[in-house]
Amino acid sequence: MNTLHTLELPIPKLSSGKVREIFDVGDGFILVVTTDRLSAFDVILDDPIPSKGFVLNQMSLFWYNRFRGLVPNTVLMSDPGMMGLGEEIPEDQVAQLHGRSVLMKRADVIPIECIVRGYLAGSGYKDYMREGTVGGHKLPAGLKKADQLPNAIFTPSTKATEGHDENITVAQAANLVGEEITKKLEKLSLKIYTEAAKYALERGIIIADTKFEFGILDDEIVLIDEVLTPDSSRFWQADKVVPGEEPASYDKQIVRNWLEASGWDKTPPAPKLPQDILDKTSNAYQEIFSKITENELIT
Ligand SMILES: Nc1ncnc2c1ncn2[C@@H]1O[C@H](COP(=O)(O)OP(=O)(O)OP(=O)(O)O)[C@@H](O)[C@H]1O
Ligand SMILES: [Mg+2]
Repeated sequence: MNTLHTLELPIPKLSSGKVREIFDVGDGFILVVTTDRLSAFDVILDDPIPSKGFVLNQMSLFWYNRFRGLVPNTVLMSDPGMMGLGEEIPEDQVAQLHGRSVLMKRADVIPIECIVRGYLAGSGYKDYMREGTVGGHKLPAGLKKADQLPNAIFTPSTKATEGHDENITVAQAANLVGEEITKKLEKLSLKIYTEAAKYALERGIIIADTKFEFGILDDEIVLIDEVLTPDSSRFWQADKVVPGEEPASYDKQIVRNWLEASGWDKTPPAPKLPQDILDKTSNAYQEIFSKITENELIT
């Protein structure tokens, strides 16, 4: 099994995000490679998390496939051997792409993040405590941290190219990307979330909240980026949720807790992570993958 932190290929790189390297393969196609990078407190750590890229990539593919009747996506293929890259990319580099890459059609990214919350946590909880509302949605009084909301709510945010994404109301989202599109995105996001949450709960997992991204391709709204992964969603073990307490989630929380306790001032570079923190984090990612997909992880 390989780990991957950064990647250069002899083809043009379109962008290097916090986690993914996006390459232009021409004719409107992109190669999206999910690395094992982890960012915490907006700093990319030097240590890759073994298997993280495999988990994020294969979990997204699982959900894309599950929801393909509900929303079109841009995935063309996930087997690097089939992508016809052999002429441009040496074989050993193609081998590095296995299990963590997709060839996609390039869509025009709709510049908002479509967040859905079914439970009270994170910044939603903070807003609720301050104002009794979350993203402009009025909620009943007396809710506790980790409580389920009466209905899942759509709480979009901006997609900041630098710095933090900002929470916005549905009306502000409509100003940014248009009212009709916003309505469609809200409806789609709630529908995907609700179906996924039901599926997960049957397997003992609560999806507390999640973030979707959409694009436009051939005048149609398409689902893009990562889907219902531990980087984009809070997954909780249903039988461990105690109202009033923030449940452990299957993600980088182990790393965040360790970093908080280390006394690091959150400016780069981040301290090197101990092996047991790397292992525990890797295990958390793999565990949620197998609980949700009931598949073997391809590594
Ligand atoms: N089919 C697609 N067409 C065009 N862009 C896409 C597609 N799928 C994903 N992307 C873009 O690729 C990038 C994924 O990289 P990564 O997740 O590492 O970025 P990031 O640092 O999290 O930044 P962002 O907040 O923009 O997601 C995102 O900017 C996403 O919008
Ligand atoms: Mg991203």
